Amino acid sequence: MLRLGILVSGGGTNLQSIIDKIQNGYLAGCGIVTVVSSKTGVYALERAQKHNIPSAVISKKSFGSMEEYDSALIAHFKQYEVELVVLAGFLSMLGQAFVDTYRNRIINIHPSLIPSFCGKGYYGIIPHQKALEYGVKVTGATVHFVDLEYDSGPIILQKAVEVKPDDTPESLQLRVMQEAEWELLPKAIRLYKENRLILEGRKVRIE
Ligand code: GRF
Repeated sequence: MLRLGILVSGGGTNLQSIIDKIQNGYLAGCGIVTVVSSKTGVYALERAQKHNIPSAVISKKSFGSMEEYDSALIAHFKQYEVELVVLAGFLSMLGQAFVDTYRNRIINIHPSLIPSFCGKGYYGIIPHQKALEYGVKVTGATVHFVDLEYDSGPIILQKAVEVKPDDTPESLQLRVMQEAEWELLPKAIRLYKENRLILEGRKVRIE
């Protein structure tokens, strides 16, 4: 079984898409062994509990330094023998030690077509607000390997989503989730499990 560790910070709809795809067989052979939230009281934790998935809250502000926070995360994921770390609506930054420990085994879903509308400060509803402000005709979602910078690692999958004239940030966010995020993240996990993601420099070739 591919042992998944999921990092969350919010509603957990991307976590739910993984749970659902494991249950319907699309992600057969994968299992979520732990869900770790960056903060308490988020619905993602309730989703984990409903499905009897062990969960924990490991919050950066509980630690005196990035190094201590990193060490706590590494210790937790090693305890659960996590093989692939999935950032699903996760809003904290990971430190050097964590990224080094799980190099090329951390993937993230970002709600835009990177390199547009990404980087520090672009999370949640903000990429959609910026897309509407700019007047783009398409936006979408990106799954990428995580490195030390925000939203900058090798791109694995992308999917474009049409921006409609009457879109609000909320309606656009929901459509990007429904039509792109909830499809791409499980698909990237499946490709990883099938060893079909070939890293070539900073590019990913899918076999
Ligand atoms: C969504 O906007 C998603 O694109 C981004 O984080 C937000 C919440 O995701 N990654 P989730 O519902 O907590 O998975």
